[in-house]
Amino acid sequence: MKGVVLAGGTGSRLDPLTRITNKHLLPIYDRPMVTYAIEALVGAGIGEVMVVTGGTHAGELFRLLGNGSEWGVDRLLYSYQDRPGGIAEALGLARHFVNGDRVVVMLADNIFGQSISGWVANFEAQEAGARLLLADIDDPCHLCHLGVAEIDSGRIVAIVEKPDVPPSRLAVTGVYGYDASVFETIAELAPSGRGELEITDVNNAFVDRGSIEFDVLDGFWGDAGESIAAYYEVNDFVRRGGANRPSADRPGDDQPG
Ligand code: DAU
Repeated sequence: MKGVVLAGGTGSRLDPLTRITNKHLLPIYDRPMVTYAIEALVGAGIGEVMVVTGGTHAGELFRLLGNGSEWGVDRLLYSYQDRPGGIAEALGLARHFVNGDRVVVMLADNIFGQSISGWVANFEAQEAGARLLLADIDDPCHLCHLGVAEIDSGRIVAIVEKPDVPPSRLAVTGVYGYDASVFETIAELAPSGRGELEITDVNNAFVDRGSIEFDVLDGFWGDAGESIAAYYEVNDFVRRGGANRPSADRPGDDQPG
């Protein structure tokens, strides 16, 4: 199993904080944002990781993460996305690194209160295809900023990206498990209206093939890149409750507020 951390993009929703640095280098409590995604992968037993970044601050990311040993990574590689062409395009750059293996992908602005190791074990146990980790969100306004799963008879029948009317309360978090077929899917994608290769189109291709599974998250999840308010909400949560805690370590403060 390989791990890929996606840390490209523009971070425009956190402007002006991101005008002078990469979003994923901004602090979450006591360390830079990107380190939480690395820690989540390492905590789930994934020691071979590629970080994909872009823009003008790739060197700083390199300086922070180095060869990965300080962060528990056995083998750390990097790739560079020439322009912010979408999450799926960024993942496509990891094709040769993944090299026919399975891959767990993490968006570097996503922070989880608990370890993702149980979800990774479920992905390892599934025969093939993709696996998502969904979060139950009760605020329709919040769901409108995310990918949302439409569920029928316990199966995902569609993912709708940033829906006006959310088809359920189950948001798609930024951790994705794929078998090696994902790279063929990406190679066949057409850019969306905003000119990006969309991860939701990738996931819907797995839905169409009847080859996608999911778990529903138990605990805190935040997308620190969603807005400046969300960035501070995630900071507050991590300062009080920590992140990537082993599943048994549940102090009962897993709700933001
Ligand atoms: O956070 C979860 C959400 O992430 C999901 O619910 C959505 O379905 C999914 O599309 C995504 O939505 P966002 O609007 O949050 O994606 P964003 O453009 O903010 O990109 C998220 C991360 O992906 C970003 O922190 C770095 C990486 N990325 C993004 C783009 C556009 C890249 O590495 N390269 C890129 O070109």
